[in-house]
Amino acid sequence: MRLDVEKIFITPRSFRKIDGPHRQVLIDAGYEIVESPAEGPLEAAELARLVPDVVGVILGLDEFTAEVFDRAGRLKVVSRFGVGVDKVDLKAATAHGVVVTNTPGANTVAVAELTIALILALARRLPYHDRLVREGRWTPVSGFELCGSALGLIGMGNIGRGVAKRAVGFGARILYHDPVAPPQELLTSLEARYCELDDLLSESDIISLHLPLLDETRNLIDGRALGRMKPTALLINTSRGGLVDEQALVEVLMQGRLAGAACDAFAQEPPGDNPLLRLDNFIATPHIGSATRQTSLRMGLMAAENALAVLRSERPTHVVNPEVYSLL
Ligand code: DGY
Repeated sequence: MRLDVEKIFITPRSFRKIDGPHRQVLIDAGYEIVESPAEGPLEAAELARLVPDVVGVILGLDEFTAEVFDRAGRLKVVSRFGVGVDKVDLKAATAHGVVVTNTPGANTVAVAELTIALILALARRLPYHDRLVREGRWTPVSGFELCGSALGLIGMGNIGRGVAKRAVGFGARILYHDPVAPPQELLTSLEARYCELDDLLSESDIISLHLPLLDETRNLIDGRALGRMKPTALLINTSRGGLVDEQALVEVLMQGRLAGAACDAFAQEPPGDNPLLRLDNFIATPHIGSATRQTSLRMGLMAAENALAVLRSERPTHVVNPEVYSLL
């Protein structure tokens, strides 16, 4: 009698394309890998069609809605290749007895480095100056230095702290807002100062977002918040598009009420015909925060091991819906 090999469905492009042990550990454990047919994230209806017989999913930024869980009758684990779980319906996962895991810490360096890159690119107007030279023009504009600037971090988890450590190396002063206080030794070594949100918005020269997208944080940076920022300030978002009211951001950038902004994440991805993309004082990147070779390998192995732990009936370290264990 032939026993069917159990299947693990894989959506993230970097997990699929980069060679490394992350794929092999799944094969060595006896699973068949089924790859997403798409280059980018799948929509819920398409994902629902592809998962009815799989026991595990390694998930990128695809929408895992209640409808998808309804169709995935054999599923035991959704293992996020990344940290954010805003695209996964966690209530539906728990109701279906599916464990959801993620990879916190694995992308800290990559996202922190991209954030610093975007700050410097905005402060020195790098894309604008690059275009200028290519067009045969030589009319540079002055920028400003990170050294001595106040960097306001909204969210002081792994990534916020990673950005703070690097920015201190450039001589920036750190302000932060987070309901959960980081360890005192870290705050002392960074000379970081806690601020209420409104004070952080009005005192910072650069504001960078490092928090998850939740009902309470959606559109946190709305017209009112943008209105509190200095007209010379820069806004960086390497977290989630839904944190910023993009229409309000277009208005303040166009009216010169904010000097510049850079986003690696958009409310809709890809952003299509988004008016932000027509502005000279705006920099866009296509959600590449975690997209380095080292981070892809680290996150890939962690995501594969999280999935295998659940499939062996062990409890992985990073479970996002721990309440599921009271039902299993
Ligand atoms: C994350 O970690 O959630 C990043 O957005 C990559 O998926």
